[in-house]
Amino acid sequence: MKDFYTMGIETSCDESSVSILKNDREILVNLISSQIDIHKIFGGVVPEIASRKHLEAINPLIEKALSESGIGYGDLDLIAVTKGPGLIGALLVGISAAKGLSLATGCDLIGVNHMQGHICANYLTHKDLKPPFITLVVSGGHSYLCKVNGYTDYEVIGSTRDDAAGESFDKIARSLGLGYPGGPKIDKLSNEGSSDAIDFPRVMLEKDSYDFSFSGLKTAVLNYLNNMKQKNETINKADVAASFQQALLDVLVKKSIRLIDETGLKQFALSGGVAANKKLRSMLKEELDKRDVKLFYPDNILCTDNAAMIAMAGYLNYKDGHKDDNYLKVYPNLDL
Ligand code: KG4
Ligand code: ZN
Repeated sequence: MKDFYTMGIETSCDESSVSILKNDREILVNLISSQIDIHKIFGGVVPEIASRKHLEAINPLIEKALSESGIGYGDLDLIAVTKGPGLIGALLVGISAAKGLSLATGCDLIGVNHMQGHICANYLTHKDLKPPFITLVVSGGHSYLCKVNGYTDYEVIGSTRDDAAGESFDKIARSLGLGYPGGPKIDKLSNEGSSDAIDFPRVMLEKDSYDFSFSGLKTAVLNYLNNMKQKNETINKADVAASFQQALLDVLVKKSIRLIDETGLKQFALSGGVAANKKLRSMLKEELDKRDVKLFYPDNILCTDNAAMIAMAGYLNYKDGHKDDNYLKVYPNLDL
């Protein structure tokens, strides 16, 4: 049988990425051009700069992906591109490139939900993973607890009512002067601090709710820092980082485990940028091991934004009978 080649294109935030997937789960190339060095000067992503940088990066990345994978334009079967959620101008660069390429080569086009992409990153690392499973998708802009019933069947059980998990890491890191992106910095600094040094709130919401709310935790940390400054007391940054991280992870893990207990499913997949967090992985593993539930998470490079996960999700949706045409739009606020 002829091989099937999917090109993935991702430009929803601050990484321009192009990948080529062969058949089901084989990554031929996954090129990622990060803009972090520019955005960190401003302490966060500047949307207009992001769009301009994507525009500069995208065509050279497409050329490089093809030459490194050893296939030509004519070999492509499908172009999978992130259609949302994300920054509108940034998404438009990827969609426009994908449409042009699809028109020029005649191959099919499919728009992909970026959050589905994050979940599908697990299939690339774990060739044996099959639905059903529970997934916790925690990225810079979104947090979802969801049941994956089939390769294209997602049932959202809970989501954040305010700040996303990654966004909370970034905001607290910024207030501690640790720089952007904050997640990896807090992950590392926490090892030097005590996670029970400061008692920050764990907001669980209503008894049966699987939703999250992290804005109260953020306010509590900011108030603590302001109080300490007003009293001229020395702030132990490592203790603040570790105590904040513990409070946030306690909520994520407690709700995840309650859902596993309620559904009785035996597989749990972590995804999104925050899935790279070492403490989150170890806390989940400890609880899941007790229940004989297997924990999956993508390789680190596939946790944060990349086009291989977009190609994977696009391929699965395409095989399920979906595709788009050249009227494909961007959806900056797309839900899972
Ligand atoms: O999934 P992602 O690359 O982009 C979005 O779709 O938003 O996630 C980026 C987020 C950032 O907020 C970053 O601080 C967080 O993931 N992150 C982490 C870690 N690595 C990245 N958060 C906690 N611990 C980490 N090790
Ligand atoms: Zn993402």
